[in-house]
Amino acid sequence: MSDSAVSAAPLATIASLAQHEGQTVTLRGWLYNLRESGKLLFPIFRDGTGTIQGIVPKAAVPEEVFTTIKNLTQESSVVVTGKVRADKRAPSGFELDVENIEVIHRIPEETPFPISLKEHGVDFLMEHRHLWIRTPRQSAILRIRATIMRAAQEYFDTNGFIRTDPPILTPNACEGTSELFEMDYFDQEKAYLTQSGQLYIEATALALGKVYSFGPTFRAEKSKTRRHLTEFWMIEPEVAYLDLDGLMELAENFVSHIVKRVLEGHQADLKVLQRDVAKLEAIQAPFPKISYDEAHAMLEEAYKQGAIEHPHTYGDDFGSPDETYISSQFDRPVMVHRYPAAVKAFYMEPDPKDPTKALCLDVLAPEGYGEIIGGSQRVSSYELLKSRIEAHNLPLEAFQWYLDLRKYGSVPHSGYGMGIERVVAWVCGLDHVRETIPFARTLNRIYP
Ligand code: 4AD
Repeated sequence: MSDSAVSAAPLATIASLAQHEGQTVTLRGWLYNLRESGKLLFPIFRDGTGTIQGIVPKAAVPEEVFTTIKNLTQESSVVVTGKVRADKRAPSGFELDVENIEVIHRIPEETPFPISLKEHGVDFLMEHRHLWIRTPRQSAILRIRATIMRAAQEYFDTNGFIRTDPPILTPNACEGTSELFEMDYFDQEKAYLTQSGQLYIEATALALGKVYSFGPTFRAEKSKTRRHLTEFWMIEPEVAYLDLDGLMELAENFVSHIVKRVLEGHQADLKVLQRDVAKLEAIQAPFPKISYDEAHAMLEEAYKQGAIEHPHTYGDDFGSPDETYISSQFDRPVMVHRYPAAVKAFYMEPDPKDPTKALCLDVLAPEGYGEIIGGSQRVSSYELLKSRIEAHNLPLEAFQWYLDLRKYGSVPHSGYGMGIERVVAWVCGLDHVRETIPFARTLNRIYP
């Protein structure tokens, strides 16, 4: 096993092997698994772009290469040389006829890689998240996450939006005061970690027309659910002179674009995740749109027929089981609009046709995934906004600048926020958001 033999072949990645069919290439990665069958070894290598099975017949390689591979341990790092052979049965479409191997770091038997190929409990996996992310499923999710983030930005960047990122440290609440992470800000008043950049991008929208922000947001969620993180990434567009109908159109085109990009670039990853691709192919604008009243009527009917456990009370927000039921009735995301103003945020414009309703929208992902987007048209009247801030017992001083936006050239404007992790969970078909982000932060987890 000479170094030169290993490094002589051109470097390739597993994802790019289609371009190297019939060639001898070098892969740099790790051993994921090793099977043995008589005089044949079947090592599976991973390199971050995918996995590939190698074939090592005893008779075809130098004795030393065979023994080295036979003694490899899971997750030892290796540089492998081999010939790329197309094989329809292989998950990646290719196999590698291994010719040579260089071991970069061999993990000793006494300290095996903790995430073995058997089943592990969730707590154990989360405790070892820094290692768990190496497994094919978790890597596939993280690759898809990156594409979802890129596609989301791409949609706005190519449609005339200017990215304007708001501060993370803020003096006021955007989404209610009960879920704020609070901190001392030197010897001045309190500061809070942002719950949403919305209030700030309303200001930049009035400066630049069409804007968006993209960054981490924080909510001290005291509940343990499969949809809530305390730190999550939100992308938020905000547009001057846009009404609720325009906002719904923006949301459906945006979501369709993201799903399209995932389908274009991640067939192999979706296969690893055993995702039903046909369900994603159905995601095309326009999306169904129903009012809160219509959604409530659906729930009433569902309760009568025993399809949901608890009745929905008219006037209340929808709980998770309600959202799950509504969204499972559609093959595309459903847009629920015009909720009772009383259960929604202070900044939402009332519907002129029925001021008890807000001009707002929630987008519920299909297959029971629930809310992925929340947004609204914003109150544009100074007087109304001021009275809303007071009615919600929010400190007027902290919102003076926000009120200024209604004092100087106020216009109708609208925006929404989409949580990246909820979308990753839906697109990847996951049960829980904890797998959608490299290192999830939840009520009882802040390690590693
Ligand atoms: O509906 P929300 O609370 O809306 C806002 O924050 C608005 N200010 C956004 C805007 O209009 N610019 O949150 C928006 C989205 C939700 O639909 C959901 O996808 C996600 O953010 N989200 C969470 N994701 C994970 N964990 C949590 N705790 C989340 N809370 C909200």
